[in-house]
Amino acid sequence: MASHGDRSEDAVVSQPQDRPISTIVIIIAMQTEALPLVNKLQLTEDLEPVFPKGVPWVRYHGAYKDLNINLIWPGKDLALGVDSIGTVSASLVTYASIEALKPDLIINAGTAGGFKAKGAAVGDVFVASDCAFHDRRIPIPVFDMYGVGLRQAYSTPNLVKELNLKVGKLSTGDSLDMSSQDEASIVANDATIKDMEGAAVAYVADLLKVPTIFVKAVTDIVDGEKPTADEFLQNLAAVTAALDQAVTQEEMGSEDVARGGS
Ligand code: ADE
Repeated sequence: MASHGDRSEDAVVSQPQDRPISTIVIIIAMQTEALPLVNKLQLTEDLEPVFPKGVPWVRYHGAYKDLNINLIWPGKDLALGVDSIGTVSASLVTYASIEALKPDLIINAGTAGGFKAKGAAVGDVFVASDCAFHDRRIPIPVFDMYGVGLRQAYSTPNLVKELNLKVGKLSTGDSLDMSSQDEASIVANDATIKDMEGAAVAYVADLLKVPTIFVKAVTDIVDGEKPTADEFLQNLAAVTAALDQAVTQEEMGSEDVARGGS
């Protein structure tokens, strides 16, 4: 499959205006990833929910310096009690959060599988340069590009440099494993990391013109020897610490975000 990497007409997830960032929404799919950050930022759970009655979505909020910080976790599936991971919940909470909170910036933080052939290692924290889907195959002209849904992330060269983060392309799909068809699309997307939410958050953020940063910590090596689910579960807690560190520092540097985008 041809690479979809370098089209000049690609959608760009909106860039911030020349005004200071005051409200940040952080979208995190898993409780294990979210709670350490809630504690570190001393956020409190919403007592007057901004989301519709009955949904499992949780907002934690608080202040850091001049920033109004909202961490949104899609919560536990109402029937099965597991984290509501994946693109459907991610797009819903992104839409609802933008509507309710009018953020100046979204940070989608979480874990990802990494490709060692593209330079990823367990524990690395990546900022995604762009996101695309790898499981929306529609072999009809133009619908094929719609399915891939390539979107550039907001560029943060200053933060990447200051925090010494890696930069790579992110490919998103609704499966933890990787079929051979997914693999071919991930190669076509030129991705270094693979997650289950990023491109869905990018889609909604692009629709509503909210600049978005994707910060992903690598829990497992997709092109390695270990079974993905085992390696993911084994490394989830430890790798989340590296993710926290990066996200809290991003917040401290969010004034740089307003100045530093290109
Ligand atoms: N999150 C962490 N590891 C992942 C993987 N291998 N695929 C998709 N999402 C992930």
